[in-house]
Amino acid sequence: MFNLYSLIMHDFTLLSTGAVLCTVGLLVLLFFFREKILRYKCLRFWESNAEDHQNIEAFLKNYGSYAPKRYNYSEVKRMTSCFKNKLGQGGYGSVYKGTLQNGSHVAVKVLNGLKGNGEEFINEVASISRTSHVNVVSLEGFCFEGCKRALIYKFMPNGSLEKFIYEERSDSVRQLGWPILYKVALGIARGLEYLHRGCTTRILHFDIKPHNILLDEDFCPKISDFGLAKLCMKKESIVSMLGARGTIGYIAPEIVCRNLGGVSHKSDVYSYGMMVLEMVGGRKNVDVGVDRTSEIYFPHWLYQRIELDEELQLIGIMNEEEKECARKMVMVSLWCIQTDPSNRPSMSKVVEMLEGKLDSLQMPPKPYLYSPSRSEVDSLEVGSYQCSRSNV
Ligand SMILES: *[C@@H]1O[C@H](CO)[C@@H](O)[C@H](O)[C@H]1NC(C)=O
Ligand SMILES: *[C@@H]1O[C@H](CO)[C@@H](O)[C@H](O)[C@H]1NC(C)=O
Ligand SMILES: *[C@@H]1O[C@H](CO)[C@@H](O)[C@H](O)[C@H]1NC(C)=O
Repeated sequence: MFNLYSLIMHDFTLLSTGAVLCTVGLLVLLFFFREKILRYKCLRFWESNAEDHQNIEAFLKNYGSYAPKRYNYSEVKRMTSCFKNKLGQGGYGSVYKGTLQNGSHVAVKVLNGLKGNGEEFINEVASISRTSHVNVVSLEGFCFEGCKRALIYKFMPNGSLEKFIYEERSDSVRQLGWPILYKVALGIARGLEYLHRGCTTRILHFDIKPHNILLDEDFCPKISDFGLAKLCMKKESIVSMLGARGTIGYIAPEIVCRNLGGVSHKSDVYSYGMMVLEMVGGRKNVDVGVDRTSEIYFPHWLYQRIELDEELQLIGIMNEEEKECARKMVMVSLWCIQTDPSNRPSMSKVVEMLEGKLDSLQMPPKPYLYSPSRSEVDSLEVGSYQCSRSNV
């Protein structure tokens, strides 16, 4: 009896030791060959994605007259002089400066082949080629050749808005004066209104932020980067969405915490408000700067100022007219960043408010402003976001 027991135990120990050794061995192998495995997966990905490839081809074919000019990869290489002049880098790939054969300048965005299933590519082609508005970038062409995908836009000489709005706080002059800031804010509002209005389909951008606003030679703003955009039927006001998309600091609370309301065009309105507040303040709303002790949340601060009818102390204001303009931009933004989506104005209302008189604007309800804590901002992991709200 005892012998049988010890025999079984012996076998059992052997077995479990074997299992542990095997697992460890497998893990070690996985670790050492991770590069190879990834590459293999990538190859497999492209083989099994012949279907995906066909889908995109079918989509482009259906698009027919909508789809802009198609270029092959060697043409893309030639127009960018073998990707010599890099303009920038984003999550979806790199952007290079290029020249078309007729001499006009273009920005060529080369998408990472591996990310996603070509969704961003389709999103961009489908969204932008449907649009024609002075405040939306125009797509001049695209390239789709196996895993080589590129989007070709008109070149914007002044680059992205981001470059112009954040500056040293000691500086008393702004890079962009108030008349231009106002013009830019109004232009983006008009562009967004156009995207949201649509005829049969409306376009929700889901990634409005200074980085994605381009400026032409006259500082006319153009909304760009439709990689996260969603086309939806005009009828459906609430969009179903898997996973959060957007950028911390601009992302609407309902996208992260679904119990706050449905995701809709109002989510873009929120991002727009956050962006305009940054333009007004010349700084990030959530300042992750050097001074860790005085972390103040700029929108909170502005709301209190307006409520107490105090000076906003914004830099670069030259006269009464600019003062009024700045106050108007702040008021409108505070409406836009309301936590409850139904309290936010539509983009056409935003345009109307910006163009109207300051006196006709009502004070937004005292909001529970949504302020992500520093740890949330630092982690930049949208998925693991805590839903925190703080009272003003
Ligand atoms: C790319 O397109 C150009 C012009 O349409 C053509 O001359 C060239 O042969 C094409 N290259 C490849 C590799 O298909
Ligand atoms: C060059 O061609 C592109 C499209 O092929 C067109 O949009 C652009 O206006 C042209 N530029 C000039 C200077 O003709
Ligand atoms: C904006 O673009 C125009 C035209 O290329 C250029 O002359 C101007 O210097 C640019 N402005 C800034 C501030 O970069």
